[in-house]
Amino acid sequence: MPTVEVVATPLAEATTDLVVVAAFAPASGERTDPPEPTAGAIELGDAAGIELAAELAAAGFDASVGATLRVPTRGALPAPAILVIGMGAAEDADTDTLRRAGAAAANAAERLERLAIGLGDALPEVASADAAQAVAEGVHLGSYRFGSYRSEAPTFTLRDVSLHVADDEVEAASAAVEVAAITAGAALLTRELVNIPPQDKRPPALAERAVAEVEGLPVTARVLAEDELEAGGYGGILGVGQGSSEPPRLVELTYAPDGAARHIALVGKGITFDTGGISLKPSASMETMKTDMAGAATVLATIKAAAQLELPVKITALLALAENMPSGTATRVSDVLTMKGGTTVEVINTDAEGRLVMGDALVHASELEPDAIVDVATLTGAMVVALGDRISGLMGSDDELAAAIVAAGDVAGEPIWQLPLATAQYGERVEGAIADLKNAGGREAGSIFAALFLARFVGEDIPWAHLDIAGTAWAASAEGYRGVGGTGTPVRALIEWLRHA
Ligand code: BES
Ligand code: MN
Ligand code: ZN
Repeated sequence: MPTVEVVATPLAEATTDLVVVAAFAPASGERTDPPEPTAGAIELGDAAGIELAAELAAAGFDASVGATLRVPTRGALPAPAILVIGMGAAEDADTDTLRRAGAAAANAAERLERLAIGLGDALPEVASADAAQAVAEGVHLGSYRFGSYRSEAPTFTLRDVSLHVADDEVEAASAAVEVAAITAGAALLTRELVNIPPQDKRPPALAERAVAEVEGLPVTARVLAEDELEAGGYGGILGVGQGSSEPPRLVELTYAPDGAARHIALVGKGITFDTGGISLKPSASMETMKTDMAGAATVLATIKAAAQLELPVKITALLALAENMPSGTATRVSDVLTMKGGTTVEVINTDAEGRLVMGDALVHASELEPDAIVDVATLTGAMVVALGDRISGLMGSDDELAAAIVAAGDVAGEPIWQLPLATAQYGERVEGAIADLKNAGGREAGSIFAALFLARFVGEDIPWAHLDIAGTAWAASAEGYRGVGGTGTPVRALIEWLRHA
């Protein structure tokens, strides 16, 4: 990650390789008007003897979100060029536009070393600290390159980024930029873990990596291996993992700061590769299934960030790790598993494995008697059909908890939509024919079925929210600050929620 520093130096005086300012597109309906540089942009242009508005018009720059135009300064400023970033129409711009602008700036500077950004005044209605956080997050998210598997690492040389703000904004903006380094760092950890090929993150290895990630922080780690999983009756995790040549793991991480008023349990699905098992997936559906541990990566990154931010809330993160493989030892279709706590489940479809590992982990979480449980899982293809790759689905037992998480998602630019748990309508569908429960029903309301299944493992009266990120954990194409691959969603939303929980 490049370093981002807040300074009060005038933008025109920045010794840097590129100075960044913004321009707005004309309001919709007035498309023929030229784009409008911000006040800061005009001021910078004046200092360089450049009339930016005329330059933009002459270049046919449309100032759409993320569009960039490079204007050379020809020796008039210490910086050799000005980069104008499009913000779209002013009436549509929000905090997320600033994140996208930060990412666009970082991308434009990928072969440079230094970048000076003056975007703080672009959106007067966004508080300067929030703007600084958003721009810095955008810079970090836009600077990420997954390169460890290339024989030659991708070129990315940007090192020093300065955010230029007014004198009286330096203190608050500096604090916000420190928060941004942690929140973006957490998103990038999740993206990185998702992007790692499945051969290098099989359950024991991923468990070790999780423990290593929190080393040096006030987080205690406990890894349950096969023998302890057997002794504890974790039949779901063991049943899913038994087809693999590498055993499953349950990782428990605890952050318990002095004086914490609340205890939140986070539970993440960690299928390190989902072949479907004996109910084998078709090849095309398997192509992105290294992503199936995104929930576990999310809860790991979230607890790490909470400890770094010294949030005053106790957190337990549970990572349910298993590899879902078909083999002679794999769970068969119609086998019955006894889950932690004794509930029996007939396995109708071995590809509905996430709910099996999550069921055990939810029982474990419930035994800790937390004030709330939030689980995160790439659980159902049905959620991809329902909400696509930009909106995560949420179901749960507590509307207040749900609303708080949805609101945090809005702030973080990670939209979340609540769907009904529909216990009254569909609750009975999870009842089994020969066991207590069955792990799969028909095609209808598949995401709700899965959530209703999970609900059977959550302790009564514990407020619970389930985030289905099957669509949002992975991006097939780049857009804004999301590159191709793991997205890190909904890590920043969860951190935002915990900061106010
Ligand atoms: N990991 C998948 C869900 C998934 C699908 C995640 C697409 C990301 C993208 C999950 O384990 C799964 O296979 N679910 C099945 C359940 C079905 C067999 C009841 C599904 O959704 O098809
Ligand atoms: Mn599956
Ligand atoms: Zn899965």
